[in-house]
Amino acid sequence: MAHPADFAKGLSIGIIMDGNGRWAQKRGLPRTAGHKRGAEVFDDIVHYCNELGLSSAYFYAFSTENWRRPPEEVGMIMKLFGDYLIKAYSYEKENNKVLFMGDRTVLDPHYQDEMNDIEAKTAHNTGMVLNVAINYGGRQEIVGAAQALARKAAAGVIRPEEITEEAMSAEMNTAGQKDPDFILRPSGEKRLSNFMLWQAAYSEMVEMDVLWPDFTHADLDRAIEEYNTRSRRFGGI
Ligand code: IPE
Ligand code: IPE
Ligand code: MG
Repeated sequence: MAHPADFAKGLSIGIIMDGNGRWAQKRGLPRTAGHKRGAEVFDDIVHYCNELGLSSAYFYAFSTENWRRPPEEVGMIMKLFGDYLIKAYSYEKENNKVLFMGDRTVLDPHYQDEMNDIEAKTAHNTGMVLNVAINYGGRQEIVGAAQALARKAAAGVIRPEEITEEAMSAEMNTAGQKDPDFILRPSGEKRLSNFMLWQAAYSEMVEMDVLWPDFTHADLDRAIEEYNTRSRRFGGI
């Protein structure tokens, strides 16, 4: 029988890494322990996404709304981002092009330097595009694109009629990449929580009950299998 992974090549997948807090609470651990384990799982799943030959993976690490959490928790997530998502990994070896989604201008300046550096170093890689969303909000991204096009129109570079869907897409963090074929949300929640609102217009939603720190390769296989049962009509019949 064909393995679900046989159908994964070229897919574009968004992953909302949710359930870290509940995973920790269930074990009587502080929520930060869940984030620590979640970061390890992130690294493991990135490698598996490479093995599967995805075209793009979009990982939601921290939303524009997550600043509402206690400062100790936010601090720990940012520290992990520094340790795990930037320094410790050589995405070069896996030929990934790495891009960060979201407003980085409010992050630690050292992180910003490293983010810019890793994007520049991997810009010419031809493997999977690995997108990490940090201080990311879908609405903010759309507002940013609208402002960029409004500036061009005000400067007389484009006419208002040239503000098309294609022009908007080209101003998004995801310019040139395929919209996610499906968005996967572990932890049982059934909402986007401000993730990729523009790009998700026709994405399939795959929800799973597993908490992110428990997420395995077999879970991603199952999600792909579920996606493969869907009939995508894009408004047609
Ligand atoms: C996702 O896990 C991680 C971030 C939002 C940064 P949560 O921390 O939201 O985990 P739950 O939803 O409270 O279990
Ligand atoms: C979405 O999860 C953000 C990330 C996973 C990074 P949340 O846990 O913040 O979402 P809500 O609050 O349940 O909608
Ligand atoms: Mg959550």
